[in-house]
Amino acid sequence: MEGILVQAAPVLPVLVIDDPALAVPLASALWQGGISVLEVTLRTGPALEVIRHIRQELPEVVVGAGTVLSARQMQQAQQAGAQFAVSPGFTPALAEAATGQQMPWLPGVQTASEVMQAREAGFRQLKLFPAGERGLELLDSYAGPFQDVVFCPSGGINPASLARYLERPNVICCGGSWLAPRVLVEAREWPTITGLARQARESC
Ligand code: 3PG
Repeated sequence: MEGILVQAAPVLPVLVIDDPALAVPLASALWQGGISVLEVTLRTGPALEVIRHIRQELPEVVVGAGTVLSARQMQQAQQAGAQFAVSPGFTPALAEAATGQQMPWLPGVQTASEVMQAREAGFRQLKLFPAGERGLELLDSYAGPFQDVVFCPSGGINPASLARYLERPNVICCGGSWLAPRVLVEAREWPTITGLARQARESC
């Protein structure tokens, strides 16, 4: 996971794509804005097909599966070509699947106990989800006890708060859907999306 997250810095777009025909133009628009690591959430029927398309058409882009809720989904994502997986939470079954499949996995955590469980299972790069209102406070609090853990906060981050998250030494990148809002994707507003990606890249 390490290399992938470093490449993802400063932002990991969280994508919800309903129409597979929009996948490649969207990924290209983000790539043109300087973002080459994407998270395609398994929240839509064609998500696995979307991952397959991006892998086939844009080898320069690194694509992961997001919203992975089960070991079966992790396996399906890997078969579709996903290069990493992201989950909103941590479960022992997912940890076992990720380890067994040798799939780079970014598990989600919120509490200190969840950080400890993920850490015990060998995961030191974690998604802080939802970052929400308390994200910055949690990151600062976790910097003391968990000095060997870095976070990718996600959920509720926007262009106005991005820089404050990225300033934290225990933040390696930030996830968010604001880079590719559904309304812009459906309207095929590719130059606007490239502009949002560029703006995010300039925040670091
Ligand atoms: C995620 O899965 O990381 C979130 O859905 C992204 O949250 P956002 O839509 O608030 O950016």
